[in-house]
Amino acid sequence: MFSSPSKPFLLFIIINLAAITPFLSNAQLNTTFYASTCPNVSSIVRNAVQQALQSDPRIGASLIRLHFHDCFVNGCDASILLDGSASIRSEKNAAPNINSTRGFVVVDNIKTSLENSCPGIVSCADILALAAEASVSLQSGTSNLSWNVALGRRDSLTANQAGANTSIPSPFEGLANITSKFNAVGLNTNDLVALSGAHTFGRAQCRTFSNRLYNFNGTGNPDPTLNTTYLVSLRQTCPQNGSGFSLSNLDVTSPDTFDNNYFRNLQNQQGLLQSDQELFSTAGSATVSIVNTFISNQTAFFESFVQSMINMGNISPLTGSNGEIRLDCKKVNGS
Ligand code: HEM
Ligand SMILES: *[C@@H]1O[C@H](CO)[C@@H](O)[C@H](O)[C@H]1NC(C)=O
Ligand SMILES: *[C@@H]1O[C@H](CO)[C@@H](O)[C@H](O)[C@H]1NC(C)=O
Ligand SMILES: *[C@@H]1O[C@H](CO)[C@@H](O)[C@H](O)[C@H]1NC(C)=O
Ligand SMILES: *[C@@H]1O[C@H](CO)[C@@H](O)[C@H](O)[C@H]1NC(C)=O
Ligand SMILES: *[C@@H]1O[C@H](CO)[C@@H](O)[C@H](O)[C@H]1NC(C)=O
Ligand SMILES: *[C@@H]1O[C@H](CO)[C@@H](O)[C@H](O)[C@H]1NC(C)=O
Ligand SMILES: *[C@@H]1O[C@H](CO)[C@@H](O)[C@H](O)[C@H]1NC(C)=O
Ligand SMILES: *[C@@H]1O[C@H](CO)[C@@H](O)[C@H](O)[C@H]1NC(C)=O
Ligand SMILES: *[C@@H]1O[C@H](CO)[C@@H](O)[C@H](O)[C@H]1NC(C)=O
Ligand SMILES: *[C@@H]1O[C@H](CO)[C@@H](O)[C@H](O)[C@H]1NC(C)=O
Repeated sequence: MFSSPSKPFLLFIIINLAAITPFLSNAQLNTTFYASTCPNVSSIVRNAVQQALQSDPRIGASLIRLHFHDCFVNGCDASILLDGSASIRSEKNAAPNINSTRGFVVVDNIKTSLENSCPGIVSCADILALAAEASVSLQSGTSNLSWNVALGRRDSLTANQAGANTSIPSPFEGLANITSKFNAVGLNTNDLVALSGAHTFGRAQCRTFSNRLYNFNGTGNPDPTLNTTYLVSLRQTCPQNGSGFSLSNLDVTSPDTFDNNYFRNLQNQQGLLQSDQELFSTAGSATVSIVNTFISNQTAFFESFVQSMINMGNISPLTGSNGEIRLDCKKVNGS
């Protein structure tokens, strides 16, 4: 019974170890990753986001955008949080982020709370994923949208400013190019439409859409897909030659609530960014029927949004012994 294993059996074990080993260093994220090492991680993050929302109703939107801009560049590895140094060109200074991304102080506050409760355990990349969920949940009003966030990401040792310049979609580049950028990170058209629904809250600066108000695409006229009533009000917020940094609500109907009004706005030609309106106004695009579904059925939007957030959160995470758990989200340990 306790005789030594046969040679074929040992060979069998070795072959299986070889097959399993790559997956040990490339482990799947899961929702119970911190169950024994930091059981309160979700509520610590949620409480910090809730507190930040008291003084800044925009902060939830800013936090989910950080997770998006993190995941699209080298995967969800908190590369966006690294400050510049002798060896690092910060993604914070990349074109899509400079004078635009915000919420870094709140991320640092969350990190400080977590280091007090569970030192050296929770990654900055997971903080971004958890803060994104908490933001949506806290701003979904009586819909109580929430989901379990898959965890276990580790933090990068590098940033990729050039990648941030080229991989994050621009509102000006057209639906086909934006779709390609989503496809490049493994996200499809359903993900594109559902995740664009995050523009149901937060703000955008005039410089990101004022091309639509006065001389669209060299025509000397506004964007023809822009509702004329909405155009009048946007021109007041963003006068010609005014500050490109003035802010406008991304969702004209319910600016601080996470709901499906973003899609209804598109139907009314009240999408703020060119990239928003194109989802509905591009004739023959597969995105149109998805928008229509989300207008008629908020539950369908919420279900798709949650799945697409999980998909986005799974973009090339560092796991196992790759990367590190940063002690300060702004810098690589020991630097
Ligand atoms: C589909 C391609 C996308 C484009 C072209 C785009 C572009 C933009 C632009 C230009 C702004 C305004 C930034 C500023 O003026 O400072 C913005 C804001 C925002 N974006 Fe996107 N975005 C896209 C997808 C997403 C996705 C996938 C998410 C999250 C899941 C997201 C979440 C947000 C949020 C919440 C804001 C408001 C942030 C704040 O108020 O601080 N966006 N986006
Ligand atoms: C979650 O992932 C970690 C790391 O891969 C693993 O140790 C743990 O067993 C996983 N938990 C579940 C429930 O799969
Ligand atoms: C988790 O939070 C609860 C209350 O929210 C508290 O009673 C408990 O001590 C906390 N546990 C840890 C390990 O911090
Ligand atoms: C960022 O904002 C500062 C202060 O308004 C300004 O001086 C700088 O030119 C801006 N940089 C970019 C790239 O927009
Ligand atoms: C959301 O939660 C509140 C408070 O727990 C509850 O009164 C309400 O019925 C819930 N709404 C939905 C749609 O489940
Ligand atoms: C990224 O874009 C910014 C702004 O256009 C530019 O200043 C910077 O040099 C670019 N960085 C890289 C590494 O290409
Ligand atoms: C779309 O991408 C192509 C190929 O990279 C590029 O030539 C074109 O200028 C882009 N379009 C816009 C509007 O940026
Ligand atoms: C902008 O103008 C060019 C050339 O006139 C045209 O091919 C393109 O489709 C226009 N883009 C939009 C978004 O209307
Ligand atoms: C905006 O500036 C341009 C060029 O400086 C000028 O020709 C135009 O009249 C200005 N428009 C307004 C509305 O002030
Ligand atoms: C423009 O927006 C108004 C709501 O402000 C809406 O009633 C109207 O139908 C919209 N027009 C078009 C062409 O969608
Ligand atoms: C709304 O969408 C949900 C989720 O896809 C689905 O279960 C439900 O049947 C839909 N409701 C209607 C009225 O179509």
